[in-house]
Amino acid sequence: MSITQILGKKGREKIVAITAYDALFASLFDEFVDIILVGDSLNMSFNAQKDTLNLGINEAIYHTKAVRNGVKKALLMADMPFGSYQSEKQALKNATKFIKQSGADCVKLEGEDRAISIIKKLTGEGIAVCGHIGLMPQNVRFEGGYKIKGRGYDEAKRLTEAALNLEAAGAFAIVLEGVISDTAKQITDALKIPTIGIGSGVDTDGQVLVFSDMLGLYQGFKPKFVKEYLDGKTLIKNAVKTYANEVKSQKFPTDEFSYKA
Ligand code: KIV
Repeated sequence: MSITQILGKKGREKIVAITAYDALFASLFDEFVDIILVGDSLNMSFNAQKDTLNLGINEAIYHTKAVRNGVKKALLMADMPFGSYQSEKQALKNATKFIKQSGADCVKLEGEDRAISIIKKLTGEGIAVCGHIGLMPQNVRFEGGYKIKGRGYDEAKRLTEAALNLEAAGAFAIVLEGVISDTAKQITDALKIPTIGIGSGVDTDGQVLVFSDMLGLYQGFKPKFVKEYLDGKTLIKNAVKTYANEVKSQKFPTDEFSYKA
């Protein structure tokens, strides 16, 4: 899937995005989705950290390379980790390294005003960038928690202007996370580029979910916006429990699973 094809979906068909952190899962998702995102959420759901902030660029590249090996069709998007795009110079160096070493098609980065010059710089150098506004998980320690955004007239107006600025800077899409539904609609209607929502209602141009959330694999807190399409944790635990019991009781392996001369 190319950036042009993603842009062409605005107002025509919904864009489907999902995260993946390895080739195995990515290869299972690829035929059904438009975008596979190697989100920095991997630090929490894959690596059991309390937030995304201590993910390093080399770890992110490692996971994106693995996902690249499992993706044939979808657009491969990679999250720039916290601290890897604090100036135009640093952002260009890290995004270039990311694209070259991981094989990602584009990068995503969080930020409103401070992201404008960075997006201009990266897109000017031929690196496609998706913005990310609203609830920005990389601000969690600064803001003291995960806060829903876009409540009230002034905040909706401010967020819409922020989105328009990122579009003008060259972003090809914008993730809206944790944005009040009416505000997400207002932003989506104001932009020529697609919005991809997570916890931002029904009117965004697309949706993204963290795969371990939607497959019911995560054992911690489940936010309101997460729909579990599978009770993955119960299925997996039951399967491993059965395997362990069968090994202990010598029910597995049988001759069926053994090599004979
Ligand atoms: O890190 C991530 O998975 C994300 C999505 C939640 C959009 O940024």
